[in-house]
Amino acid sequence: MLSADKVCKSFGGFHALAGCSLTIGAGSITGIIGPNGAGKSTLFNVLGGLMSPNSGDVLLEGRRVVGLRPDQLARLGLVRTFQISRELGELTVLENMLLAAPAQSGESVWRNFLTPARVRAEEGACQERARTLLQRVNLWQLANEPAKNLSGGQKKLLEIARALMLDPKIILLDEPTAGVSPLMSKLLAETISSLRAGGLTFAIIEHDMDIIATLCDPIYVLAEGRTLTSGSYREVVANQEVMRAYLGKAA
Ligand SMILES: Nc1ncnc2c1ncn2[C@@H]1O[C@H](COP(=O)(O)OP(=O)(O)O)[C@@H](O)[C@H]1O
Ligand SMILES: [Mg+2]
Repeated sequence: MLSADKVCKSFGGFHALAGCSLTIGAGSITGIIGPNGAGKSTLFNVLGGLMSPNSGDVLLEGRRVVGLRPDQLARLGLVRTFQISRELGELTVLENMLLAAPAQSGESVWRNFLTPARVRAEEGACQERARTLLQRVNLWQLANEPAKNLSGGQKKLLEIARALMLDPKIILLDEPTAGVSPLMSKLLAETISSLRAGGLTFAIIEHDMDIIATLCDPIYVLAEGRTLTSGSYREVVANQEVMRAYLGKAA
């Protein structure tokens, strides 16, 4: 579905990504772990079109996508979410969903004027879609609640639902369970798992090893801007180098 090939990204003289390669297979929930500063979020920035790499390639379904903007990538089926949720707190959950929808005919004043019936039809379809997706992530009962009143976990669910408004093939999730209660983490994991069963592909940066163990296969371990190793959870935790990357950092 998505692959990075020897991606490099520097900030000043610092190599945040130093030849990072990975492959995210269609229908997988691919996990990405590694010590703080390993380059995980930077990798997502590059994959999601927020940053251009200094060198290397990114392929989405075999097509070279380096240089495309996030909105262009979204149209090709790739959407990313952020480590810090980006909902608009004063707006309701439903309004946040409608804002996430791709550009509508109604956004052009002239088309609005010329074809009000069509604009109304699109708005109706959009509302309907928002409702279906909020039901799917168990947030429909909070549709009219200002987003700022949601718990950390509910905000993450809203962020996933907002991503789904774009009808993606693959979603990149940066630390979906950070700052989320254990119970909500479990609900998030179940939601991700059921979305995958429905045909979606995920790449997930995650620190919670229980979530990684239950959800992700394969798992890539990043350290110092590179892929250290990859494999199943059992393979990865059995790897001495992986342990050294973590312990070395902790020490
Ligand atoms: N926009 C930026 N400007 C300068 N340095 C950055 C920027 N983004 C990330 N870095 C640096 O790159 C390294 C990797 O960061 P990041 O990708 O956020 O790591 P991770 O998500 O694995 O914790 C860190 O040392 C970080 O300070
Ligand atoms: Mg990060």
